Amino acid sequence: MTETLMTWTRACSTDDVPDSEGRRFEVGGHTLAIFNVDGEFFASDDTCSHGESSLSEGYVEPDCAVECIAHMARFSLRTGAVLAPPATVPIKVHPVRVEGTDVLVGLDA
Ligand code: FES
Repeated sequence: MTETLMTWTRACSTDDVPDSEGRRFEVGGHTLAIFNVDGEFFASDDTCSHGESSLSEGYVEPDCAVECIAHMARFSLRTGAVLAPPATVPIKVHPVRVEGTDVLVGLDA
Protein backbone atom coordinates (compact mmCIF):
# COMPACT_ATOMS: atom_id res chain seq x y z
CA MET A 1 0.00 0.00 0.00
CA THR A 2 1.34 3.43 -0.88
CA GLU A 3 0.59 6.45 1.23
CA THR A 4 0.55 9.92 -0.20
CA LEU A 5 2.75 12.29 1.76
CA MET A 6 1.04 15.51 2.66
CA THR A 7 2.32 18.76 4.04
CA TRP A 8 0.09 21.15 5.96
CA THR A 9 0.65 24.74 4.87
CA ARG A 10 -0.96 27.89 6.25
CA ALA A 11 -3.19 29.47 3.62
CA CYS A 12 -4.74 32.37 5.48
CA SER A 13 -6.48 33.50 8.62
CA THR A 14 -10.09 32.61 9.32
CA ASP A 15 -10.77 36.37 9.22
CA ASP A 16 -9.52 36.61 5.64
CA VAL A 17 -12.52 34.78 4.17
CA PRO A 18 -15.97 36.13 5.08
CA ASP A 19 -18.84 33.70 5.56
CA SER A 20 -20.40 32.45 2.30
CA GLU A 21 -17.50 33.74 0.22
CA GLY A 22 -14.27 32.54 -1.35
CA ARG A 23 -10.84 34.12 -1.67
CA ARG A 24 -7.80 33.25 -3.77
CA PHE A 25 -4.41 32.56 -2.18
CA GLU A 26 -1.01 31.38 -3.34
CA VAL A 27 -0.14 28.43 -1.13
CA GLY A 28 2.98 26.34 -1.54
CA GLY A 29 3.18 27.08 -5.26
CA HIS A 30 -0.53 26.39 -5.85
CA THR A 31 -3.24 28.92 -6.60
CA LEU A 32 -6.06 27.89 -4.30
CA ALA A 33 -9.54 29.05 -3.52
CA ILE A 34 -10.43 29.00 0.16
CA PHE A 35 -14.13 29.02 0.99
CA ASN A 36 -16.03 29.71 4.19
CA VAL A 37 -19.40 28.00 4.52
CA ASP A 38 -20.96 28.94 7.81
CA GLY A 39 -17.61 28.75 9.60
CA GLU A 40 -16.46 25.56 7.89
CA PHE A 41 -13.51 26.06 5.55
CA PHE A 42 -12.81 24.31 2.24
CA ALA A 43 -9.99 24.48 -0.30
CA SER A 44 -9.85 23.73 -4.00
CA ASP A 45 -7.66 24.53 -6.93
CA ASP A 46 -8.81 27.98 -8.00
CA THR A 47 -9.21 27.42 -11.72
CA CYS A 48 -12.51 25.94 -12.86
CA SER A 49 -12.21 22.57 -14.62
CA HIS A 50 -14.33 23.95 -17.47
CA GLY A 51 -12.26 27.02 -18.31
CA GLU A 52 -10.06 29.81 -17.05
CA SER A 53 -12.41 31.18 -14.44
CA SER A 54 -11.49 31.74 -10.79
CA LEU A 55 -13.67 29.68 -8.48
CA SER A 56 -12.82 32.03 -5.60
CA GLU A 57 -15.09 34.55 -7.36
CA GLY A 58 -17.91 32.01 -7.60
CA TYR A 59 -21.14 31.87 -5.66
CA VAL A 60 -20.74 29.90 -2.44
CA GLU A 61 -23.89 27.97 -1.64
CA PRO A 62 -25.07 26.72 1.76
CA ASP A 63 -25.00 23.08 0.66
CA CYS A 64 -21.18 23.32 0.46
CA ALA A 65 -21.05 23.94 -3.25
CA VAL A 66 -19.58 26.63 -5.46
CA GLU A 67 -21.07 27.89 -8.69
CA CYS A 68 -18.60 29.17 -11.26
CA ILE A 69 -19.41 32.70 -12.39
CA ALA A 70 -18.49 32.00 -16.02
CA HIS A 71 -20.98 29.32 -17.08
CA MET A 72 -22.66 28.36 -13.80
CA ALA A 73 -21.20 24.87 -13.38
CA ARG A 74 -21.56 23.73 -9.76
CA PHE A 75 -19.05 21.71 -7.77
CA SER A 76 -19.12 20.05 -4.37
CA LEU A 77 -16.62 21.67 -2.03
CA ARG A 78 -16.42 18.40 -0.06
CA THR A 79 -15.52 16.09 -2.94
CA GLY A 80 -14.90 18.28 -5.99
CA ALA A 81 -17.63 16.42 -7.88
CA VAL A 82 -19.54 18.17 -10.65
CA LEU A 83 -23.07 18.92 -9.45
CA ALA A 84 -24.27 20.82 -12.50
CA PRO A 85 -23.04 21.20 -16.10
CA PRO A 86 -21.50 22.39 -18.30
CA ALA A 87 -18.38 21.16 -16.48
CA THR A 88 -17.79 17.41 -16.71
CA VAL A 89 -14.45 17.10 -14.88
CA PRO A 90 -14.27 17.36 -11.06
CA ILE A 91 -12.17 20.06 -9.42
CA LYS A 92 -9.34 19.10 -7.08
CA VAL A 93 -10.17 19.72 -3.46
CA HIS A 94 -7.69 19.70 -0.60
CA PRO A 95 -8.12 18.81 3.07
CA VAL A 96 -8.38 21.75 5.45
CA ARG A 97 -7.87 22.05 9.15
CA VAL A 98 -8.19 25.11 11.35
CA GLU A 99 -5.77 25.68 14.20
CA GLY A 100 -6.70 28.73 16.21
CA THR A 101 -7.24 31.35 13.50
CA ASP A 102 -4.95 29.67 10.96
CA VAL A 103 -6.47 27.89 7.97
CA LEU A 104 -4.11 25.07 6.98
CA VAL A 105 -4.32 23.18 3.70
CA GLY A 106 -2.97 19.69 3.15
CA LEU A 107 -1.01 19.57 -0.09
CA ASP A 108 0.59 16.56 -1.72
CA ALA A 109 4.29 16.63 -0.91
S1 FES B 1 -15.29 28.23 -16.77
FE1 FES B 1 -16.38 27.52 -15.03
S2 FES B 1 -18.26 26.81 -15.83
FE2 FES B 1 -17.16 27.44 -17.58
